Parts: sequence; C-alpha cells; structure tokens
Amino acid sequence: MSTADMRAAIRGDGGRFVYIVSALAALNGLLFGFDTGIISGAILFIDTAFELSPLVEGIVVSGAMVGAAAGAAVGGQLSDRIGRKRFILLSAGVFFLGSFLMAVAPTVEVLVAGRMIDGIAIGFASIVGPLYISEIAPPAVRGGLTSLNQLMVTVGILSSYFVNYAFSGSGSWRIMLGAGMVPALVLAAGMSRMPESPRWLYERGRTDEARAVLRRTRDGEIESELSEIEATVEAQSGNGVRDLLSPWMRPALIVGLGLAVFQQVTGINAVMYYAPTILESTALGSSQSILASVAIGTVNVVMTVVAILLVDRVGRRPLLLVGTGGMIGSLTVAGLVFQFADPTGGMGWLATLTLVSFVAFFAIGLGPVFWLLISEIYPLAVRGSAMGLVTVANWLANLVVALSFPVLLDGIGTPGTFWLFGACSLVALLFTYRVVPETNGRTLEAIEADLRGATGLGSDASEDD
Ligand code: BGC
Repeated sequence: MSTADMRAAIRGDGGRFVYIVSALAALNGLLFGFDTGIISGAILFIDTAFELSPLVEGIVVSGAMVGAAAGAAVGGQLSDRIGRKRFILLSAGVFFLGSFLMAVAPTVEVLVAGRMIDGIAIGFASIVGPLYISEIAPPAVRGGLTSLNQLMVTVGILSSYFVNYAFSGSGSWRIMLGAGMVPALVLAAGMSRMPESPRWLYERGRTDEARAVLRRTRDGEIESELSEIEATVEAQSGNGVRDLLSPWMRPALIVGLGLAVFQQVTGINAVMYYAPTILESTALGSSQSILASVAIGTVNVVMTVVAILLVDRVGRRPLLLVGTGGMIGSLTVAGLVFQFADPTGGMGWLATLTLVSFVAFFAIGLGPVFWLLISEIYPLAVRGSAMGLVTVANWLANLVVALSFPVLLDGIGTPGTFWLFGACSLVALLFTYRVVPETNGRTLEAIEADLRGATGLGSDASEDD
C-alpha cells in the first residue's frame, strides 16, 4: 500500500476509532508524567508531616525511579506473555494501588511502599503506552499516534506543576499524591472496552480476532497488512527471549540502548526536576522561578505537538538530528550565560530562555522519537522484552543523572555541568547520524524483515518499500 493509500485509509470510522484507542492508551503517559512530577511539590509537606530522615526522603523521591526500572525489567516480558491490553489493565491497577496507599499512608513505611508500587506502575506504563499504540496504529500515522503517549507525559508533568502550585498553600500532600487514582480509573474503565493489539493476537495464533481488530481499526483493505504480519510470524525462530541475544538483534539493541542512555545523560531531567534550583543563582525571585518552570513545562507540551505533526511527514531521523543539534546549541549558550553574564542584570531571563530552548529541542527530538523508535525496531516475538530491557537502561540513566546533578553543580559548577551535557549531546548526535534507522511510513513487519535479513538497520534504511 502506498503512503497516500494508507493516509486515505484512516479517514473513516475505523480511522477515527484508532485515534480514540490511542488517546485512551496515552493515559499511560499522563500517569507516567504526573507521578514523576508531583513528588517535587508533595515532598516538602511530607517532610514536615513525617519528619523524614534524608535517606528516607531520598527513597521517597528517587525510589520511584528504582521501582520504574524494576517494573520495566519484568513488565516487558509480562506484556509479551499476557498481552498488551491485560498488561495495561494491570498497570492501571498498580497505579491505583500505589496512589491509594500514598494518599492514606498512616506511617512512613506505608508511604514508601506506596511510592515503590507507584514506581513499578510508572515502569509498566512507560513501556506499554508506546508499545500498544504502535501495534494498533496504521503505518502512515504510527509516529504521531504513538507520540501521543509522550505528549501526555509532558501534559502530566505540566499538570503536576499546577497541582503542586494549587495545593502549596494548604499543603494537602495526600490529595496531590492521591490525584493519580483518577486517571488510573479512567484508563482501566476505558481500556476494558478497547481491543487487544492485533499483532500480539496474531502472534498467539488468534488470527480471527486479529483480523477483526484490524477491520475495526482500518477503513481500507487489511489483507496486505495481514499477510505481512503472517509472514513475520512464520519467520520467527520460536526462541523467544533467547532471540534477544542473537547476533542479528545486536544493531537494534545498540540503537535502543544508546538512545535510552542519551535521552537522559543529555540532561533533560536536570532541567525538569531542578529548574528552580538552577535559576536560584540568577536574579529571579522564587515566584518568577515558578513561572519559569511553568514556561518550560508549557514549551515542552507545545513542541511535542509540533513533533507529532511532523514525525510522519519528515521522518524520525531529521527530528532527532535537528532536536539534538538544537540541544547542543542551547547547552553551549547556557554554559556561556552562566559563566560570563552578570547575575544581577537581565541574566535570569536569558538563562531561562536557554533552558526553554533546550527543552523545546528535546521535545521535538529525543523526547518523543526515542519512545517511538523502540516501539518500532524490535521483532514482534520479543518486542515487549526488548523494550523492557531498553527502558530499564533509560530509568537507570535517569536515576544516575538525578542523583549526580547536585554533586556536579557543586563540583564543576553550573557552566561546567551544562557543557558536560552538551558534550554528551554531541556524542548523541554522531550516534544518531551513524546508526539510527529511518522507520517512517514502513510497516513494523518490513522493519523486522530488514533486521532479520541483516541488511543492517543502517542510516541508509530510509527508502520506502
Ligand atoms: C523522558 C522523561 C522526561 C520527559 C520530559 C520523557 O521522554 O523519558 O525522562 O522527564 O520526557 O518530557
């Protein structure tokens, strides 16, 4: 099917339905973003309520990332085994339980348990949102639909800033943390009426159901897509997770693991988690710092929308290259501003501007495109497991940056830290240029056939079938 045919195939009822399914599944992203963002505000009041020791405070804040890494470690394989839909229902249930425990926690122990459970759910959601959407979406719009999940991550982070702000007067941390129960319920209720991934069904030999789902989510003919899925399933070696370690998987694993680490070590969460701390050294007052954080969160949302509009037109590689290039420029200038500008002059706003532009470039590149690519480049039989592995790397790198950022600021100073992130971004750019494939407009099956055929998922893999 040509790209034009595929675009035509999403204009009718089936096309509309696939948007609804995807938007609902993207609530996984909302929970991911909200639950990672809300803790920065809530922790101030939890600290007073329970008189936390620094160690326990660290566990409450960063424990979710450890939980997320653990959730990702087991979650991917679980989604291959029980199916994407049941796994989303499970993750909604775990989110609900974690948020509920935190909201009612009578003791620190229960609070910590709730936060760990919440972390596991964040790990689950970070895999299954993009995974499910990419498997149900038609190829022509797969990039935009899958990136709805990242859009909701950014919306979740931004809404957590607002909720933090709204409750900062009353200090109602239980409401802040319990708020996550609402989207978890909506996700569970909505998903229970949505179809299973057609690709997962086919892989399990449930071909009639797979056919029915494709028919419900496509307007045009489904036979060519079905026969591609069928050919892929037939080509499987039946080795399951052992396939992950086979030589032909290596290029795709290198791409996924590399992007997972680069997405974090280029510094996004130093800005997302610590923007007010960074801006404190400038002449901005505390309320202006909050305003600056809101500006950063808003630009993150807006530029993710831009990425969604572009990703199926210009492709994944151009967005990654331009985004990472822009991050290098922004970080270089940020370093110069913090090194040379006069802190009492207009530097506060100039510094904010460099951070805003850094986040904007992340949001059109590494932010959405990392999650999108890892949902596209792995073979069906091990897609969940491979995404799980790569996502563990992402969460561990996130944890390392979050823990080391204050130490870095202390050791090499703000400019040095930005230049270090800039240097990592430069390596990320070269890495992308050399090894990241173009997947735009191709079926997941064509991408897998390339991988199996050892034609190499090289940078020249961009031509359409
Ligand atoms: C990253 C998160 C980050 C968020 C910011 C996601 O793609 O995985 O670590 O906080 O983007 O928008």
